[in-house]
Amino acid sequence: MYLTREEEKMLDGEYGETVRRFMELLVKLGDIYGAERMVEVGSAQIAGISYKNIGDPGLEFLEEVSREARVRVPAFMNPAGMDLSRWKEIGIPEEFAEKQMRVVRALTRMGVFPAATCTPYLSGLLPRFGEHIAWAESSAVIYANSILGARTNREGGPSALAAAVTGRTPYYGLHLEENRQPQVRIDVEAKVKGEYGFSVLAYAVTKQIKKEIPYFRGVRGSPDEMKTFGATLAAYGALALYHAEGVTPEQVKVPREGIEIGEKELREAEEEIREEYSDVDLVVLGCPHFSVAQVKRLLDLLNGRSFRAPVWVFLSYGVRSILEREGLVRELEERNVKLLSDMCAVVAPLDVMGIKSAVTNSGKMYRYLPATNGVKTYLDSLENIVEVLAE
Ligand code: F3S
Repeated sequence: MYLTREEEKMLDGEYGETVRRFMELLVKLGDIYGAERMVEVGSAQIAGISYKNIGDPGLEFLEEVSREARVRVPAFMNPAGMDLSRWKEIGIPEEFAEKQMRVVRALTRMGVFPAATCTPYLSGLLPRFGEHIAWAESSAVIYANSILGARTNREGGPSALAAAVTGRTPYYGLHLEENRQPQVRIDVEAKVKGEYGFSVLAYAVTKQIKKEIPYFRGVRGSPDEMKTFGATLAAYGALALYHAEGVTPEQVKVPREGIEIGEKELREAEEEIREEYSDVDLVVLGCPHFSVAQVKRLLDLLNGRSFRAPVWVFLSYGVRSILEREGLVRELEERNVKLLSDMCAVVAPLDVMGIKSAVTNSGKMYRYLPATNGVKTYLDSLENIVEVLAE
C-alpha cells in the first residue's frame, strides 16, 4: 500500500509505539481489503465503549494505549452501559460503574470528546457532504453515509480508534465513489409514519435484501424517522448506505431492477413482529438517541398523563442539556420518564438488574435487546405505548 511520508513515520514508530501499532493495524486492514492508500478522515466515532461488552481485557487495553496515544481528529464515543452521571439512580451496580468510568477516563485522556452517543450529528459532530470519516456505530454509519453524504465504512471499535489516533483510514469500500452506487430499486407503495412505521418498513425491506445498496422511491421521512429507518436496516441487514429519492443528497444512477413493497408486505412484516402486551418492566425509547423534537413529541402525546411503568429515554448529553434549560427534564421526570444521556440499554447490565420485559418503538432496539440482555421485548408505536401504559 502506498503510504505518505507522514504515514511512514507513524508506521516506523516516530510518534511512539502505540501510534505505530494503530498504523500497523490500519495497514493490515487495508491489505485485506485491497486498499491502495490511506485517506485522511475528518472525524471518528468509536464503539466498544461499554464495559459490558469489552470487559477487563478491553479496559486494560484502553488504559494501556491511553498512556501514550492522543487523537488527531475530533472523536466521539458510542453509548456506554450507563448514564455517566446518574447511574446510581437507575440501579447500575457499583462495580460496573467503577469499571465503566475507567473506560471513559482512558478515552477522554486520549482526547476523545467526553460524550457518548450514537447520534454525534445531533451534538455538534456534523460531517460535510463527501467528507471521509471513520465511524463505528451502525446507525450512525448509515445516517452519515446516506442522509449526510459523508463516506465511511462500518468500522469496528479498534479500527475507529486507530483512525482517531492516526487521522487515517484505508481507502476502500464506501470511501470509493464506484462502491456507493445503488444495486436494487425498491418502490414503496404504502404510507409509512413514525419510528415504528419506519422500523416495520425496514424489517420488510431486509426480508428481501441483506447487503445490496438500495435506492428507495416513495420513502420520505423526517430526519428522525430516517434515523430509525437506517438503524433498523443496519440491524436486520448488513446495510451501511441507502439512497432515497428526494431525501438523500448523492447523485446516483437509479437501478432498473425493482422490488415493490406495499401494504401487504408491511402487514405481513407487522404480523411477524407485533405482539400484544399490557405490562412491562421498562419502556425503552431513544434508539438511536432521541432529538429535542422527539422528546417534545413524547410530552405532547402524554398530554398531562404519567406512565405506569418506568420509561428510559436515551439521548446525547447535548440534547439533554437543551431540554434541561427548557425545564422539560423535570416535567418528564414527574411523569415517570427519565432522560438518560451517554447510554444505551443494549449495552447496559439489564440482565443483572432484574429487568425481564420491555417495550420500544425502535426496530433496532427490538432486535438487539433480547439477544444481549435476555429481555422479552415488544415493538409498538409511540402513540400506542402511551395509550397502553400511561394514565
Ligand atoms: Fe444507539 Fe444503542 Fe440504539 S447505540 S442506535 S441506542 S442500540
